[in-house]
Formats: sequence, structure tokens, C-alpha cells
Amino acid sequence: MRPIAVNNLKIGYRNRVIAENINFVLEENDFVIVIGPNGGGKTTLVKTILGIIPPLEGTVEVLGCSVHHVCPHRKRIGYVPQMGRVRGNLPATLLDVVLSGLFPYMHRISFIGKDERELAIKMIKELGLYEKRNEPFSSLSGGQQKRGLVARALMGHPDALIFDEPTSGVDIAAASEFRKLIIELHREKGIPILLVTHDINPYLDHLTKIIIIGRGECRVGQLELLKDEDFLKKIYGESIKTLQINGKIYLLSGDFHNV
Ligand SMILES: Nc1ncnc2c1ncn2[C@@H]1O[C@H](COP(=O)(O)OP(=O)(O)OP(=O)(O)O)[C@@H](O)[C@H]1O
Ligand SMILES: [Mg+2]
Repeated sequence: MRPIAVNNLKIGYRNRVIAENINFVLEENDFVIVIGPNGGGKTTLVKTILGIIPPLEGTVEVLGCSVHHVCPHRKRIGYVPQMGRVRGNLPATLLDVVLSGLFPYMHRISFIGKDERELAIKMIKELGLYEKRNEPFSSLSGGQQKRGLVARALMGHPDALIFDEPTSGVDIAAASEFRKLIIELHREKGIPILLVTHDINPYLDHLTKIIIIGRGECRVGQLELLKDEDFLKKIYGESIKTLQINGKIYLLSGDFHNV
């Protein structure tokens, strides 16, 4: 069963349409990258897929079940949201946060027992955070918190993972490690991925599709989409250019002069 299928979707808020005619499928072997300018609608799309925001029109199906209705499969999608580092006095340890990944699976009267704790510790270990398990979540660095949120998302053994700009605000070394982790989750654990990012280069060898969203438009396809400069100008503005250097693709914005 396809993890995610999006049909003629119109996304937005009340009367404000952010993008429409969105159609794509996340297959079991897919690694889909979503790009687009700030405010273009990437997070809105992700939240609509997860059923956090209702679609204005069209449908989203998770494992064949429409997220319009009470859909038991919604929780099968692990989600690592776009967020900055949590600071302050959040009264929760890393272990608490990771355990909360099980809440959607718990019955009304249910409690966390030994098995649940062992699973959470296993996930925390896999993500290299064992020493931090009893530390307050807010005392962890931005990169450690993001790894913690991956452990949380993995608690329900998800059928797909959605990451919304997971490396923003993380230092370059931690970001590089994090990208490796995402690729590993896809290649080694076989989890289909939908990833919102501004930098597609680290994923060029792995991605199977790209989605470009902005200014009301959304296109789904292969890397060739990035050759359509008219389309990119419409989405990012007039000063955008695509450069290909040594097999890498760069989207640049600014004044360009022939030298
Ligand atoms: N709760 C909301 N109510 C109304 N409008 C919203 C809401 N959340 C976001 N928007 C608007 O929807 C548009 C798309 O926002 P969204 O967060 O989806 O963009 P994005 O592509 O994720 O941007 P970024 O790259 O900055 O994360 C923006 O104009 C934003 O102001
Ligand atoms: Mg966003």
C-alpha cells in the first residue's frame, strides 16, 4: 500500500489559498525532496498531509485511508517538525520526549511500562544519545534535540518519515551527520522519506522525485524541473539562476554579470 497519495490537493488557511492542483505519490522506495522559497507553502503542505491542517480541496491518503476521516493510519507517518532549539524550563527529559512518540498508539487507560521504556532507550542509543537520556530536553544542543525528535518519530516504527528543514539552525558538522542519518534511514531501514530542505545537493544520489512549491504553484517531477528557469523565476522571483557545477546544482539569487 502506498504510504502517501495526494490528489488534486488545494492547501491554505480559511479563504487563503497557498497552492493548488497538487498531485503526487510517496511510494515505498521514494526519497522525495520538497523545495521552494520562504513562505512558499512547504510546511503548509506537510501539515496538510499529516492532517494537522484540513485540505481546502482534494484528498490525502495515508496507506489508502483518507485523512479527512478518522484515519487509523495517520500515526503511521513519523514527523520531525520544523523548529528551532527548545530552550527554557520544559519539564521533560529526553526519555520523556522520546516516549511521547508512543502516545498516539496508547489506549485511553494505558501506562508506560518496562517494554516501552526499553524501546525508547534502544532508539535513544541508536541515535547516539544514551548519555543524555535523563537530561532535560531543553538542555540538549539543537542537533541533539533534532536527533531526539527522530528517535521519537521512530518509536511507532513508521511507514514513512517526514522531515521539515531538519538541518536548519544546526552547525555544519552536526548537519552533515544528520543528513547521513536521513539517508541511512532510507537506505538501511527502507523507510520512505519526504524531506523539506533548501539544499538538495547532499541528496542528489538518493532522491527519486522533487516537489517545487511557491507563489501558488506546485510541480512534481525529476531534477529536470530545475532547468525550467521561467518556472523558477515565477516561484522564486526574477533574479534566480540555476548553476550546475561538478554535478552539483545551485540555485542562486542576485545580480549576474558576464565576466
Ligand atoms: N496558521 C496560519 N494561518 C494563516 N496563514 C499561515 C499560517 N501558517 C502559515 N501561514 C502562511 O502561509 C504561507 C506559507 O507558509 P509556510 O510556513 O507553509 O511556508 P514555508 O514554505 O514552509 O516557508 P519557510 O521556508 O519559511 O519554512 C505563508 O505566507 C505564511 O505566512
Ligand atoms: Mg516551513
